[in-house]
Order: sequence, then structure tokens, then C-alpha cells
Amino acid sequence: MLTDNFGRRFYYLRLSITDVCNFRCDYCLPDGYKCDNDRDFLSLPEIKRIANAFSQLGTEKIRITGGEPSLRKDLPEIIHTCKQTAGIKSVAITSNGYKLPQHLPSWLDAGIDAINISIDSLDPRHFHSITGHNKLDTILKGIDMALADGRPKIKVNTVLMREYNAYDIQSYLDWLKDTPITLRFIELMQTGDNQKFFDEQHVQGTRIKQNLILDGWLPVIQNKSAGPAQEFYHPDYQGKVGLIMPYSKDFCNSCNRLRVSSLGKLHLCLFGEQGLSLKEQLQCDDVEPLKRKIISLLGDKQATHYLHEKLSGATTNLSMLGG
Ligand code: 5AD
Ligand code: SF4
Repeated sequence: MLTDNFGRRFYYLRLSITDVCNFRCDYCLPDGYKCDNDRDFLSLPEIKRIANAFSQLGTEKIRITGGEPSLRKDLPEIIHTCKQTAGIKSVAITSNGYKLPQHLPSWLDAGIDAINISIDSLDPRHFHSITGHNKLDTILKGIDMALADGRPKIKVNTVLMREYNAYDIQSYLDWLKDTPITLRFIELMQTGDNQKFFDEQHVQGTRIKQNLILDGWLPVIQNKSAGPAQEFYHPDYQGKVGLIMPYSKDFCNSCNRLRVSSLGKLHLCLFGEQGLSLKEQLQCDDVEPLKRKIISLLGDKQATHYLHEKLSGATTNLSMLGG
């Protein structure tokens, strides 16, 4: 089992398969994706080796992220490969959902267990202005299709922003009344590229948490492998609410995840170093050297990020690593 110097266990891998994204979210890629050089993204055999090595080290869950992972044509094969790996109990995806109704059937066929979609505003005009795409209706239709299928667990991510959603939490809660999804409000995080936007838009999750509690929302008792989201349920609502507050005290104590970028680099923290290359160990089917490399690199994982000190590490935006 992968365990770091602080006793944290890592049973969850976030695997980015491309850093290309077609959206232009204000806090992430406001000017769109810029291709700086020829990108050599992980191949299917390399992905298979990563899944094998991590599962042999105790990983039970793989989340496929981007950029936008569905921009890769072989996404269904990637889902299937992860799903076929012995020891992997759950394969999830984080997507912007721009073609969810078209893509969903192939993801379901490949065995997807959970789908996270980003919706930063339920107002179509705001949604368009944040992402650069007028796609809210399509995405909501895709979510309804996934709910009708009933197999995948659905979560929606909303990055809290003063101007776009924080003043109207109620519309989201109204949606949850009859919609069995988990909605997670994520505090905006500062990255190398978004400092001005961060200063203008950052809202703390604590106020929302207090209001939820006043309105009768109750904390979900989390099992010990739960990640850093704090979740709440309400007897009158089918949906749940989660809060992800990376600036809160002890946020990093429950860290249970490692990340591998689409360039084959291990990232010990979202806000850490440039990434530690696994590329050499990814070239052969014998995963023992890869496992040894991962174990030795994990020794450098720090206790916490340094966001409080306005240090966002080498992370210029999250499309590199998929959040
Ligand atoms: N702060 C908070 N969340 C972010 N995401 C991307 N960039 C940031 C940021 N700077 C979110 C996306 C998506 C998830 C993968 O990460 O909105 O929901
Ligand atoms: Fe938006 Fe995610 Fe694309 Fe960044 S990677 S622009 S957050 S959809």
C-alpha cells in the first residue's frame, strides 16, 4: 500500500490523459488552450502500465481527467482498460460535458462508474460567459440521460465565484430537491495564471456551510477513505451538497490521491513541483521498476500545499492536471 511519511494512504489516482481543453473557463484558460509544442500524451499501453502499477500498490479508484478527456478519440478504450485492471473497483471521469449526450453511451459501454461534470452557473448566459460555450442545455440533457440510465454516480462541480454563482446558491439547491446528484462547491484556487481573477472572485465556502447547517442540512458521516470534500444531506432533498475548501485548516490531512499528468509525470500535490517523470519506467510491460520509482518519489510528498502563502507551485492553470 502506498503510504507517505505522514501516514496518508493513496488509494485514488487522478490520471490526466490530455491537457487540451476546448473550453475557456475564466479561472483556468481564459484565452483558450495554447499549444506550445508537440505534445506526447500517454499512449494506451502506457496507461495500462500505470493502471497496473498503481493497482498493485493498492489503488482502487482511477479518475480520468484532462484538460477535457473526451477530446481523445480513444477515451472509451482508456475507460475500458482501467476498468479491466485487476484491483480497480471504480473508474470515474471528470469532463466539461460539452458533448455528453453523444458520448455517454460509449462511456457506459466501457464501464464508467462515476461522472463529474462542471457547471459553474445554472444561468445559460453566465455559463456561456464563463466557459466561452453556450452548452448548458446540452450538458443538463446529458446529466438527465445519465440519471435515467441509473448506473453512473453523478457529481457536479461548481467553482464558487462572487459574480457568477455565490449570490444565488438557492437555484442550485432547488435543482437538488428532485435530482439525485452530489453538487460540490469548490473554492476558487489561485494558480500562476489567475491571480487578478482570484482576488476579484474568490469566495469562502464557510459562509455557505453555515447557511446549509441553518437550513437543516446534516453532515454525511464519511468513511475514513473519503477525500477532502465535506458533504451534507437533507431529508427533503434527493441531492447532496459537498464543499471543497482548500484554504481551510487541515484540508491536506485527508489527502488520499496522487496525480499523473498526460505527459507521464507523477505529481505529489496539485500545487507542487513540475512533476516527476515516469516516462522511462513506462516503456516496458514489467511494472516492477515503475512501482519502485513511484514508491521512492512518494517519500518527497509534503504535509500540505502552500496556497495560504500565495504559493501555487508550478501550477499555472489546472488544465495541466485536471483539478
Ligand atoms: N480553482 C478551483 N477549481 C478549479 N477547477 C479548475 N481550475 C480551478 C481553480 N483554479 C475545477 C474545474 C473542474 C475541476 C476539475 O477543477 O472547474 O470542475
Ligand atoms: Fe474549464 Fe476544465 Fe477546460 Fe479548464 S480544463 S478551461 S476548468 S473545462
